[in-house]
Amino acid sequence: MKDVYIFAIESSCDETSCSIVKNGKEEIATVVLSQIDIHKDFGGVVPEIASRHHVKNITMVIEECLTKANMTMEEMDAIAVTYGPGLIGSLLVGVEAAKTLAYLYQKPLIPVHHISGHIYANNLKEELQFPLIALVVSGGHTELVYMKDHYSFEKIGGTLDDAVGECYDKVARIIDVPYPGGPTIDKWAQLGEDTYPLPLPLNDNSYNFSFSGLKSAVINLVHNEKQRNHPIRKKDLATSFQNTVVNIISKKTMKALKEYQVKNLIIAGGVAANQGIRETLTSLCKEENIHCSVPDKQYCTDNAAMIAASGYYAYRLGRVGTLDLNPKSSIILK
Ligand code: KG4
Ligand code: ZN
Repeated sequence: MKDVYIFAIESSCDETSCSIVKNGKEEIATVVLSQIDIHKDFGGVVPEIASRHHVKNITMVIEECLTKANMTMEEMDAIAVTYGPGLIGSLLVGVEAAKTLAYLYQKPLIPVHHISGHIYANNLKEELQFPLIALVVSGGHTELVYMKDHYSFEKIGGTLDDAVGECYDKVARIIDVPYPGGPTIDKWAQLGEDTYPLPLPLNDNSYNFSFSGLKSAVINLVHNEKQRNHPIRKKDLATSFQNTVVNIISKKTMKALKEYQVKNLIIAGGVAANQGIRETLTSLCKEENIHCSVPDKQYCTDNAAMIAASGYYAYRLGRVGTLDLNPKSSIILK
């Protein structure tokens, strides 16, 4: 079979990224330009600033990716792009760039859902085995997805409010850790003790999550301790918070694996880099004889290689878009 090269663009949040992937699994070249340092001063991503930087950088990132791969746009089979969900102004830059390339080089345009990208990131490590459950945990998402086959997505649960990464970043901010605080909280969680009592959020039989109550509990706890002039034991708080998050996420994920009789779990998204989540789910899966897979760290956070991997299967299934494609800030995964 002829090799298929997908050129992909990802710009849904604060990373401008392009990638070329062969046959949905072999990364040829990827460029990721992160804006983290720019948004750090504001304690989070500022949408207007993010889109302006995408505009400034997109052409350079496209060119750098082709140079790195030593390939030309003529050699690509299709142009894939994240069209949602995400920040509308940021998405718009990637979608317009992809439409221009598709028109100019007469290539099929493949619209890709950002979450499907996070799931297919795993295909760059090992081919997806079906049926599977994907746990997608990032700054914008906390979702459990059941897949019977390629591009058969059934969302069985998701967050009702804050995403898990968002909650990590907000808790970090309360204890003066700079944005994005998730990785620091994770590091500290390995060093402290679980001494602060926190409520297990939305501890019910559903596959949904809710993290805003947990965030409020941490805010109240810190506030009360300050009023009493008690110093906050930041590492202990990090451990208590992380244990609470890991407990509820692993409880619901393991329940889903059993109920759907699935032997494959994929943990995807930026928070898949979390030591607590990785270790706990890997060991629980081992006990149940379930294969647990996590993409390599550089593919966990936003990147275009995962969009190219997902785009390859969309292309093979004939899911081609038209040049009137518009980005969408929220869309159902299907
Ligand atoms: O997937 P991603 O790059 O962007 C979104 O699509 O949202 O995820 C970024 C999020 C941030 O909230 C960051 O704090 C969190 O992932 N994150 C972590 C860790 N590494 C990144 N959260 C907890 N533990 C980590 N080790
Ligand atoms: Zn993401």
